[in-house]
This record gives sequence, C-alpha cells and structure tokens, in this order.
Amino acid sequence: MHTEFSADMSLHGCRCEPSARPETIRADALVVFLTEGGIRGAAADIDRATGGLLSRLAAAGEITGKRYECIPILAPAGIAATQLVVVGLGAPADTADGTIDLGTIYRAAATATRHLSTRPRDTVVLVAEPGWSSRQTEQAVAGSMMGTVGQDLHRADKKRTKFASTVWVGVSPEVLASGTLIADGVNLARRLVNSPPDDLYPETFAEAAAAVAGRTGMEIEIWDEHHLERERCRAILAVGRGSSRPPRLVKLTYRGPGVQAGPPDMALVGKGVTFDSGGLSLKPPDGMLTMKCDMAGAAAMVAAAATIAALRLPVNLVAVCGLAENMTGPAAYKLGDVITARSGTTIEIHNTDAEGRVVLADVLDVVREMRPRRIIDAATLTGACMVALGHDVAGLFTNDQAWCDSIAAAARAVGEPVWQLPMYADYDEQIRGEVADIKNVGDGRWGGAITAAKFLERFVGGIPWTHVDIAGPAFAEKPRPWIDGGGTGVLVRTLVELARGSGR
Ligand code: BES
Ligand code: MN
Ligand code: ZN
Repeated sequence: MHTEFSADMSLHGCRCEPSARPETIRADALVVFLTEGGIRGAAADIDRATGGLLSRLAAAGEITGKRYECIPILAPAGIAATQLVVVGLGAPADTADGTIDLGTIYRAAATATRHLSTRPRDTVVLVAEPGWSSRQTEQAVAGSMMGTVGQDLHRADKKRTKFASTVWVGVSPEVLASGTLIADGVNLARRLVNSPPDDLYPETFAEAAAAVAGRTGMEIEIWDEHHLERERCRAILAVGRGSSRPPRLVKLTYRGPGVQAGPPDMALVGKGVTFDSGGLSLKPPDGMLTMKCDMAGAAAMVAAAATIAALRLPVNLVAVCGLAENMTGPAAYKLGDVITARSGTTIEIHNTDAEGRVVLADVLDVVREMRPRRIIDAATLTGACMVALGHDVAGLFTNDQAWCDSIAAAARAVGEPVWQLPMYADYDEQIRGEVADIKNVGDGRWGGAITAAKFLERFVGGIPWTHVDIAGPAFAEKPRPWIDGGGTGVLVRTLVELARGSGR
C-alpha cells in the first residue's frame, strides 16, 4: 500500500506539539540538534533539565555537534523519554551567511530518525531549534520522515520500521504538513528507483504515474507504442525495440490555483530508461548491476510534479517522461543505424549505450511543441559526469544562463550540490554525423557529459533549457548516515523550491 500524498496526515502518524516542554513528554526517544562550539537553543533547555548532562559530556569530548554525529544517551535523569538523541549540525560558520544550510538540517534529522528506525518505536519526539526559519524547520521535518524509510520491500527481516507516532515540538501545522509532503515526494522517487527492473518497466512506470496523478489531481496522458508511432517518436521506439517491454511516454499536467491558462511556466523532462543493459554495446556486469536506477530522472520529475500539486503551488507545469528498456533482443537497434527523430533530425547510432539522449531527443521535441517558458530535464545521462563531479554533485548544462542560475540557487537553498559545466560551441563539432545530421556519441570519451548535453540542446528549439545530469547523486551505492543505499530522490526538493521561488 502506498500512502504518499494521501490527504489524511494521521496516516503518517505525525503531529506537532507547539508549546510543550519536550523533557516532560513520555516517548521512546527525544531528539535535539546541536551545533559545534557550545550548548545552545533547545539543547541548552535539555541541559538544564538534566542537571548539566550535555555540558559534562561536551566537556569530556563525548558530544561535539559535528555534522551527522548521532549520540544516543539512555535513560537520562530529568527527561520523561527513554532516551535522548543528540544529533550534530556542524559549525554554523561553515556557511556563507552563518546559518545552518538546509541540506545539513535535512540530513541531520534523517540521521537521527534512521538510527532510531532500526527497531519499532511507539513515539519519537523531535525538537526544532527556536531560531530556525520555517524553511529550515520544513527541511528538518522532511528529513525526519525520509530517514525512517528504507529498502525493506523484499526482505522478510525488516531493517527499518516507521514510528507509530512522530511528534515535532516547535513546528507549525502548516510547516509540518508541507515538510511531510516533501518527504512523500522524495520517498516516492526513491521507491520508484529502488523497484526491481522486472517490476518497474515502461508500462508499470506509467501505471504508477497514473496512480500518483489520481492522488494529487493532475491530468495524465500515456502514449503507448502505437501512439508513439503515430507521433513519429522513432528515437524512443528505436531504444525500446530490443526489449519485450514496449516503450511509453507519460505526460502529467498541473495547473496551479489562480494561474492563468496558457503555455506551461515550466516543463519538466525525465529520462526513464527502466533498465539500461547498454543494448548491443553491452555494459560489463559491474556497470549493469545498478542500471535499474536509469529512470531516476523520470522518477524525480513525476515525484516533483506530484509534490508541487499536493502543495497547490501557483504554477502551471507539465512533466514529460520518456520510458524505455534498453535491451539486446532480436529487434534491437544497431550500431550504424540512422534514426529520424520526431523533430526530423537524423541520428547516427555509434553506441547503443548512449541511449538516454536518443530517448530525450523525442521527449524534448514533444515538450518544445507545447511552447513552455522554460525546460529543465533530469537524466542519469553519463558516467563522464561522475568522472567530472563525483558521486554527490549533479552537473548543470544550459543554453540560458539566467534559467540555470535560478536552478542553481534553488538547489543551493535546499542543500543539493550542483555544478555547471561549459557548453562551448566547439563541442558541437564532436557530435557532427558522418552520414546523418548528428551522431549519438562524441569523439572519444573526453568531455562526454558535455557532448551529451550538446546533443540534447539540438532538440529544445531555442527555448530556455537546463539539463541536469544526475548520474552521480541519483543512486547511493553504499548507505550513508542519513539514508539507506539505493535511490536518493535527488532533485525533488530542488524542484519544489524552484516552483515556489523563481518558478514564475
Ligand atoms: N545510464 C548511463 C549513464 C550512467 C552511468 C548512469 C553510471 C549512472 C551511473 C548512460 O546511458 C550511459 O551508458 N552512458 C554512456 C555514454 C557513452 C556510451 C557515450 C557512458 O557514460 O558510458
Ligand atoms: Mn546507457
Ligand atoms: Zn542510460
């Protein structure tokens, strides 16, 4: 049963306690946050209630407030809860404006709840810092609701259990509600990414999107293989041809309250390769193991659209995902094939493992026709982007600096690291076709993230566009203190922030 975005908040067992003295609440655990360099805020109240326990532990060097440090203190005197958990936020001076960054708060809250979710708990109380802004508090709530969710669907011996009830002290009902919806969005994207590829393929991804659309009041259109044929989406069809699971295109539409009808303010575009074997340019086994994650861009876009709709944000947007399985069946597309994309541009296939850009060629053309003010796409597009930026940072590529800056600002605001890479015209020469208009790989592997972005640029028809390569941050191969290994739900929080602030 999926309860994401259900209107009934009690399903999540989360409530707020605006004025209670946290030390008096009976619970399994009480969580407080601590910055480096002294016991302040809520931690200082707890320190007083416990007769200076935290000060003594800090003096002894047992608690420091270092980022994501998570110290459980069992049965402390002066507190009604069975245990106290002190979770570190790092040094406030680490950030430019001296406040704690929203991503750190989100991850610290998740670290505490992830730690506590290793066994069943009846009630867990978390205390928001009195000095936090509503945005900081919202991310703390979101992190706390994300951290208890893991990868237990297929395991008899569950490693995580949600708390029967979560109580936030010092959080308004509005912020509790929006933080919970944001966590729902992140968890939805994670669940889609974590689903095994034989459960989640283009058709079932489309069904999942339809269910989400129903729950959040979005319109949905699903194009099956016949519809894709009628629409001349031969690039999507080519990538899907080696699979027994036919491709799909999913289009979600959301109109915000009080926003005039008209072209979308924003078009969200997602790469949804539900499994990437590499096709005839087959991947080696090691590289193939995690390729169920190759639909993380589509998952992020569906989840972000759903969250924006659930929050009733005042924007008009569409989210369009190209869904295909890249396999090696007898009809698979081949090296040397020339495909006429929906736009009329011909694509020469030099490597069937560079399939994401081929799928997105048609999706971007469908979106271009809707004349959105701006386009953002998310794709686990290239290993080269991970070579450039590592596991945790997404690459940005754009044809419009102002639009890219808005996205970078939104990402920075919620603490999702991004870094822009250049789009010099010289790179275009690398994808010039030998027999067709363009080819689907550059010359050699250098600058591979950029040549891929250059390929996409050919299909946006000059509309302000930014491509986000999430090959690194979409999927965590190992667990971190705040999240189980697997899908991370990257970009959902950024897109919500974008739709809120600069979305208009
Ligand atoms: N889905 C992969 C990129 C990827 C790699 C995502 C690792 C996440 C983790 C993409 O389809 C791909 O295979 N790209 C090739 C392109 C190359 C053939 C030009 C790559 O990066 O090797
Ligand atoms: Mn590939
Ligand atoms: Zn791929």
